[in-house]
Amino acid sequence: MTTRRRFLLGGAGAVAALGLPGGLRGQSLAFPALKAQPASVQLAPLPYPETEIWGYDGLIPGPTLRVRQGARVQRSFHNGLQQASSVHWHGIRIDNAMDGVPGLTQEAVPPGAVFDYDFEAPDAGTYWYHAHHRSVEQVARGLYGALIVEEAEGPDVDREEILVLDDWRLDPDSAQIDPDFTSFHDLSHAGRLGNFITTNGRYDLSVEVRKNERLRLRLINAANAKIFPLALSGLEGWTVALDGMPLEAPEPITDALLLGPGQRADLIVDVIAEDGEAAHLVRAEGNQGYSQVAFPVRGVAASTRRAAPDALPPNPNMQPPALAEAVPVRLTMEGGAMGGLGAAILEGERKSFRQLAEAGQFWAFNGTVGLTETPLAELARGQAVRLEIHNDTVFPHAMHLHGMHFREVAEGGALGPLRDTLLMFGGEKREIAFVAHNPGDWLFHCHMLSHAASGMMTWMRVA
Ligand code: C2O
Ligand code: CU
Repeated sequence: MTTRRRFLLGGAGAVAALGLPGGLRGQSLAFPALKAQPASVQLAPLPYPETEIWGYDGLIPGPTLRVRQGARVQRSFHNGLQQASSVHWHGIRIDNAMDGVPGLTQEAVPPGAVFDYDFEAPDAGTYWYHAHHRSVEQVARGLYGALIVEEAEGPDVDREEILVLDDWRLDPDSAQIDPDFTSFHDLSHAGRLGNFITTNGRYDLSVEVRKNERLRLRLINAANAKIFPLALSGLEGWTVALDGMPLEAPEPITDALLLGPGQRADLIVDVIAEDGEAAHLVRAEGNQGYSQVAFPVRGVAASTRRAAPDALPPNPNMQPPALAEAVPVRLTMEGGAMGGLGAAILEGERKSFRQLAEAGQFWAFNGTVGLTETPLAELARGQAVRLEIHNDTVFPHAMHLHGMHFREVAEGGALGPLRDTLLMFGGEKREIAFVAHNPGDWLFHCHMLSHAASGMMTWMRVA
C-alpha cells in the first residue's frame, strides 16, 4: 500500500523560504479539502445569539464523509485554526501513518498548514473523525464528523439517518462555549459534561417518518465525557452493529442502550407509532425520559411490518484471538477524585500526589501518568493479546484502542462482539482480547477527553 504523507506550509512565501520546489505547493490541493475553521452557528434557541464554534468546513457536525468499503478516504486537511491540530479517523483499521496522533504517528499540523490524509477503509460501518490535538478543547468546540463506509450491499431499509450526539457546555447568558477546558474539577471527576445537548448540532432535531417505515440509525457519541443511555419509543428494532462492526445476529432492543464517548451503534428500527403520533429516540436519565430525536409520523409506508432483518455482512479478516496462545497484559487505572493516586511517574520522574495535582495530572495507568517512552506492550504482528483492565477508580472510563478492534472476554472465556471503545464503570475488572494484526504505534486511552488530557493515555507497538 502506498502512503502519501506530506506536510506543507501554506502560503507561497513560506514555501519559498524553506526552499521547497515550487511544484510542491499545488500538492496540498491533491484531495478535496477538509478545513478546520472557526464559525458561528445557531446552536441555542432564538433569541440566543449564534455560538462561536470550531468546525470542519465550519459545520457542526463536519461534512459526512462516505466511501464504499475498500475505497480510499482522501482529504487534504487545512488547519484554519490559531492552534495546531490533526485528524484521527476513529475506528478505522488504518495505515498507522494516517492515524492522526501528534507525537506518535505525525507532527501536529501548525496553523495555516496542510496535511494530506490518504488511507484505505477496509471495513464497512459507522466511523467518525475528530481532532486529536488538544482534543479536550478541539472536540468540545465542535471538530468532529461522521465517516461512513458503505457495505457493497446494504441492508434492506427505506432510509438511513446519521445521528451525532453531543453535549456542550454553554454560558447560560451568552450561549458561548465555556473556555475553561482544563478545570481541575473536570479533569479529576467525570470529565467535561455539558448543559446543552444536541443531535447533529440541533437541540430539537425532528425527522419525519411514516408508519411501518424501516430506518437504519447510525448513532455516534461525539461528546467529551457524556454517556448517553438511549431507548426507543414508538420505534421497535435491533442493534445490528457496534463501533462499526456488524453483530453476528441482530439483537432486539429491549433495555436502554448505553453509548459511551467515542462509541457507535447501528440500529435498524421500524416505526410502530401511528400516523399523526410521534416516535422518539429517548435519552433515559434517572427516571426521566427526554426526546433526543423526535420522529413525527406523517403517513403510512406499508400496511404491515417487515420480517426481522438479516445480520450485516461481516467485515473481512476478523479472526477471533486464540486465547490459549494470547500474551497477557495488565492495565491498572488509578486516580481521580476520591481515588488514591498516591504518587506516580510523570515524564520519567516520581512525583507526589501534590506535585501531580499541581500539574493537572490526576490519573495513572500502571503507576505512570501519560505517554511513556516505552509502550505498554510490544507485540509481534499476528500475536493474540489478552488485556486485563482493572478500574481502581470510582469513575467510568471509555477505553479506546486505535487501529484494531478487540472483543471482550467474559468469565469462562466467551468472546463478545468486536468493539473499539470499552465503557467500564468504577471498580470494575474487565478483559479484552485482540489479534495484533495492524503494524504500528497505537494509542490506547480514555475517550473521556479530560481524563486523556490528565494522564489516561498509553500506547502499544505492533512490529
Ligand atoms: Cu476517538 Cu484517540 O480517539
Ligand atoms: Cu476516563
